[in-house]
Amino acid sequence: MDLELRFDFSLILEKNLRGGEGLSAAQLRGGLRRAEKAALAIARRHASGEIGFPDLPFREKEARALCREAARLRERFGHMLVLGIGGSALGTKAVLEAVGGPGARKGMAVTVADNVDPDFFLPVLRAHPMKSTVVVAISKSGTTAETNAQLSLAIAALKKANGRSWRESLVLVTDPEKGAFRKMADAEGITAFSVPPNVGGRFSVLSPVGLLPLAASGVSVGRLLAGARWMETLFREREPAENPVLFASAVYSHYLLENPKPVHVWMTYGRGLERVAEWWQQLWAESLGKRRPDGTSVGQTPARAVGVTDQHSQVQLYQDGPPDKIYTFVKWMKGREKGMVPPAGFAPEMAMLGRRPLRDLFEAEFEGTIGALRNAARPLVRIEVGSGDEAHVGAFLHFWEWVTAVVGECAGIDPFDQPGVEEGKKIARALMGEKGASARRERFIRSMGSRAPAEIRVRSGG
Ligand code: PA5
Repeated sequence: MDLELRFDFSLILEKNLRGGEGLSAAQLRGGLRRAEKAALAIARRHASGEIGFPDLPFREKEARALCREAARLRERFGHMLVLGIGGSALGTKAVLEAVGGPGARKGMAVTVADNVDPDFFLPVLRAHPMKSTVVVAISKSGTTAETNAQLSLAIAALKKANGRSWRESLVLVTDPEKGAFRKMADAEGITAFSVPPNVGGRFSVLSPVGLLPLAASGVSVGRLLAGARWMETLFREREPAENPVLFASAVYSHYLLENPKPVHVWMTYGRGLERVAEWWQQLWAESLGKRRPDGTSVGQTPARAVGVTDQHSQVQLYQDGPPDKIYTFVKWMKGREKGMVPPAGFAPEMAMLGRRPLRDLFEAEFEGTIGALRNAARPLVRIEVGSGDEAHVGAFLHFWEWVTAVVGECAGIDPFDQPGVEEGKKIARALMGEKGASARRERFIRSMGSRAPAEIRVRSGG
């Protein structure tokens, strides 16, 4: 397995960045010490069994069992409809797109439906021939209203198409013991796979949450895990100054805590990376956006931009707008296509574009944008990932899981909980009339009802 990732931190060094935005040698040393201490604290939580994501790359036996199940499903069905949201969906979408998009591998067509917007979900459901579709409903808690509503609709459609054998077209992925999904699996005898209780949604892509649909779509989960294992080993063995996880954690925690930048922009160059950015966005926002025990808040708004498209919409702001951002540029080292641009006979002033690969222009745009931001003294990390194959993607995702965990620990918060998301989920369920939640519903309605009004409604026709 030949893997290569290039992390270029030179544009955060004081020497290379004017305007006092860069890290001095002393700050970098301090950051590395902070990151190392934080990593040890996470490692202790891991050793006690509280945190499970570092183990996922090593669960090869379970991965093989999932591959067998995926092969069985592929023989029987032509389509897989995945129901789930947040951490139960974004990792699968990211990997599917990164390795070339659904259909790039010789597997079944996998669609991830991660919204209950009726104008999105109902047409997606209708478009699936339910006789040849397997529904995979994923919810670690089993109490997410969105996924439960999707599941009810999907079961109705499965019953209509398959009658009494509808259960054979359904697979659940959920907690091994708790929640409505587990209860249903036990009561109805539905095939179910477990999410390890010590792995949170946004850290679960390498568990059955991601591995089952990915294996079904033909992605090599063996190589995905091998890449993540490589990163895990590298992280455990390398000295801080040579360790990509610790170095990155030192840098990002600096721009979160010491020279706080409220916004972290990922600018991606390469097909599929925009979905990886979506996955990272949840990881970064939900893990780091927290209140500390002393009541102070911390967090960094993750923003996404797609190169080169968004050079023509965002980069003006990045360059001349407020210096409130840290940038991470991500690119595949090797793309797939090799097409050449023909000689531009009609526009002599554009002659330099002709007779060379289109990729040369893409690369020049990447370098040019980095150069422009450097000239504007914006702190910037540049990461190049070998290519969009499973092993590289596995290594890259696992790298970010560790960086997020370590930066969270540096910030004095728990990167693995999500009290804010839970609060919103509870209110939504109460508003829908959840049993035993009437007090919460009343409280919410009262508080919204006592708002000072500030509403403007406009209607045409009088
Ligand atoms: O990262 C998280 O924990 C969340 O984003 C969850 O994944 C998301 O809310 C869905 O939860 P569940 O899998 O319990 O339905």
